[in-house]
Amino acid sequence: MTCSSEPILEVRNLHIDFTTEEGRLPVLCGLSYALPKGRVLAVVGESGSGKTVHALSVLRLLPPNAHVSEGEICYKGQNLALLSEGELRRIRGGKISMIFQDPAASLNPVLTIGQQLTETLLAHRKISKEEARRQAARLLEKVGIVGAAKRLEEYPFQFSGGMCQRVMIAMALALSPDVLIADEPTTALDVTVQAQILRLIKQLQAESGMSAVFITHNLAVAAAVADEVLVLYAGRCMEQAPAEQLFKNPLHPYTQGLLNSLAPLHQKVDELPVIAGHPPVPGKTQAGCPFAPRCPFVSEKCRKSCPPLFEENGRKTRCWLREVHA
Ligand SMILES: Nc1ncnc2c1ncn2[C@@H]1O[C@H](COP(=O)(O)OP(=O)(O)OP(=O)(O)O)[C@@H](O)[C@H]1O
Ligand SMILES: [Mg+2]
Repeated sequence: MTCSSEPILEVRNLHIDFTTEEGRLPVLCGLSYALPKGRVLAVVGESGSGKTVHALSVLRLLPPNAHVSEGEICYKGQNLALLSEGELRRIRGGKISMIFQDPAASLNPVLTIGQQLTETLLAHRKISKEEARRQAARLLEKVGIVGAAKRLEEYPFQFSGGMCQRVMIAMALALSPDVLIADEPTTALDVTVQAQILRLIKQLQAESGMSAVFITHNLAVAAAVADEVLVLYAGRCMEQAPAEQLFKNPLHPYTQGLLNSLAPLHQKVDELPVIAGHPPVPGKTQAGCPFAPRCPFVSEKCRKSCPPLFEENGRKTRCWLREVHA
């Protein structure tokens, strides 16, 4: 099937389940979004909501027991599932690149930073080794590493966590991708470094005009980087809206709960209200809205049937309370 060519990345009705000893566990249930060129979408959700699984599926990096049972992912109108491995390799890194959560684990400890950066460049570009080294040094400078040419000789263990993450950003940007997928890129870092790295990603994104999917469990991080926010819960989009509107006027009770329990980005706060209860375990969900057991506004209808995404004024909300407004 061909996809609309307008958005740079489009996820349509994506269903993914895992085959496990307990049977087939649904992890993503009909996720859809369209990412326009130059825009940043934040995908926000609690642990286990399916954020990483969705990111891995975009680059066809899912583990073997994962199964895409329905839906498609299109890059510039091409259905990624239909590409050959060779075509996909050109897209991975070159057109769509990813930053993973743990920077230290993503770098190879036995290769210097320079070797890793030049390898990425040489694998995709027809340039000499000397040119690759020059470009690698420029990339390190761009991500704020002082004395870049010298630091190319160093190994990852000689870099702090924040600096390793800067290197990962440099690697992800090395081939000027159209789309950057950043999976919790600042979670492993302390709060001040988090803010610096977020500013850096946002600045580089704005300069280059690339699009980005920014995955985070932290709504404050989403507020700092995103144009649009998609709130994921138990593998379903519960709310999607332009960032400003979502923060000013969250419509879904889950988003309202997340915002109430939000600590300011640069502060550690001990006492915040939390949403009582836990998200459902995959495979154990009953009929009805997955948030119903935790929702302060739950009604009989919510327990019986899962609401669709109601659309109103460019926003989408999966809640029966919005039915009358849509
Ligand atoms: N290889 C696997 N086999 C079976 N289940 C898996 C596998 N990988 C992930 N899952 C399940 O898929 C669900 C979604 O996982 P995912 O890693 O996408 O969550 P996440 O939203 O990224 O969470 P976190 O914030 O902790 O990173 C979880 O319930 C997880 O247990
Ligand atoms: Mg994850």
